[in-house]
Amino acid sequence: MPQRTRYAIVGTGSRAGMYIDAITGVHSDVAELVALLDPNAGRLDHYARRIAERLPDAGRPVLSDPGELEAVIRDERVDRVIVTSPDFTHAGYVARSLRAGANVVVEKPLTVNEEGSRIIAEAVEQTGGEVVMTFNYRYAPRNSAFKRVISSGAIGRPVSVHFEWVLDTSHGADYFRRWHRQKQNSGGLLIHKASHHFDLVNWWIADTPARVFASGGLRFYGAGNWRARGGGERPERGSGAWEKDPFALDLVQDEKLSELYLQNESYDGYRRDQDVFDSGITIEDNLSLVVDYVSGASMSYSLNAHSPWEGYRIAVNGTEGRVELDVVERGDVGLDAEGRVVDPSAVVDTAGSNTLRPRGERILLQRHWETPQQIEIPQGEGGHGGGDAILLRDVFVGRSDDDLGRAADYVDGVRAIAVGIAGNRSLATELPVRVDDLDLGVRLQGAHGSEDASGVQGTRGVQNTEAGGR
Ligand SMILES: NC(=O)c1ccc[n+]([C@@H]2O[C@H](COP(=O)([O-])OP(=O)(O)OC[C@H]3O[C@@H](n4cnc5c(N)ncnc54)[C@H](O)[C@@H]3O)[C@@H](O)[C@H]2O)c1
Repeated sequence: MPQRTRYAIVGTGSRAGMYIDAITGVHSDVAELVALLDPNAGRLDHYARRIAERLPDAGRPVLSDPGELEAVIRDERVDRVIVTSPDFTHAGYVARSLRAGANVVVEKPLTVNEEGSRIIAEAVEQTGGEVVMTFNYRYAPRNSAFKRVISSGAIGRPVSVHFEWVLDTSHGADYFRRWHRQKQNSGGLLIHKASHHFDLVNWWIADTPARVFASGGLRFYGAGNWRARGGGERPERGSGAWEKDPFALDLVQDEKLSELYLQNESYDGYRRDQDVFDSGITIEDNLSLVVDYVSGASMSYSLNAHSPWEGYRIAVNGTEGRVELDVVERGDVGLDAEGRVVDPSAVVDTAGSNTLRPRGERILLQRHWETPQQIEIPQGEGGHGGGDAILLRDVFVGRSDDDLGRAADYVDGVRAIAVGIAGNRSLATELPVRVDDLDLGVRLQGAHGSEDASGVQGTRGVQNTEAGGR
């Protein structure tokens, strides 16, 4: 067997599973898992058992506390570290891995603030190491097809974007139960969730954000809102305590979540099922932004995290027409007879009753003076319409000859969080924030391919004169 790339994974929670399964499955010919690092020994054991089941004859990965990262990289001759720990820890692990001689694959968001961005940029500059960002949304076939339409020039030069994303009372609520509910951990949904969306727009229109104005707040979840709507006392957590409450997550009822979190609470005290109407939540659940881009294009963006259905609506207006992407990921959140949320991943549209908002996706291209045409969205096998498989192939086998340029690096990661970081500052100051005024440690315009951005004067007189591709 040819030499395989030696991997370590830091942060062995839910997301790590996708990478562990890829390394011990379809990509085991090119990748080898030599170490798992997590402060929670129970979750390390959980994955060690899973790996032993999948590859009974292979060597066992070293299990370690992340404090030992440098020693593990040295002793196990780690080539690449995959970072799937909570967002606020990414910058430290990326920089430490690079300095210890390993390259890095990091989950979104790259990091949560300016300091994290500077730490990563400095480590890349000093070591020359490689940082791959796994922006999996780019690989979803509908998002790739949307990029293809815009890149084809069919709508001319993009000049404005309207982007609305709604998270439902199952998926959206979940961010308010976990570590994400603290802004210092996740940067809030503007960073944790919307960095996916801001990356899509940067990539779709090949542009760089220049100025952000944000407005928003916590208007539905949280103790204050609950009490203001007349709500009474609630238990601190969902498991085993709360009957007929669709906002409570009962880990006991979910074998996977129970194994990963409930049974491992004794190691770190972390509760995966905190009450969404608790006090102490510091992130927003409703957000509206105006974003200006270097080319002069602009975007109106909104995120809602307590919608009765989940999906998104996007329109890009160009000088020669308009393209729209409409997606219903879940038409409603169904409840069982006990009032519990039916596992959303197990159903398409609950009870088959949702004929007015069926699950679906559609891209419509309409050029000036023409009737609309529907653009075909090719479908593949597996998660996200086959998108996950292509992403994992890019990560483990190498960058394919991809005319869409879906592979992303840390500068793409900074460009995505720049909108959220500026947005968070705007929320705090109630003023628009220029991205150039952020201290991110990296120059975003020069590093960005901006084929659509030439010659359009921005609202602030900023112009992207840089060429180059990603
Ligand atoms: N691309 C996507 O669609 C996608 C989806 C899910 C998660 N993610 C990203 O993956 C990362 C992990 O998310 P998750 O849902 O698996 O969270 P999780 O809570 O399930 O797992 C986090 C793991 O990190 C460990 N951890 C906690 N503190 C740590 C520390 N200081 N150092 C190292 N490890 C620590 C925890 O014990 C846990 O095992 C996040 O950055 C998230 O944004 C991306």
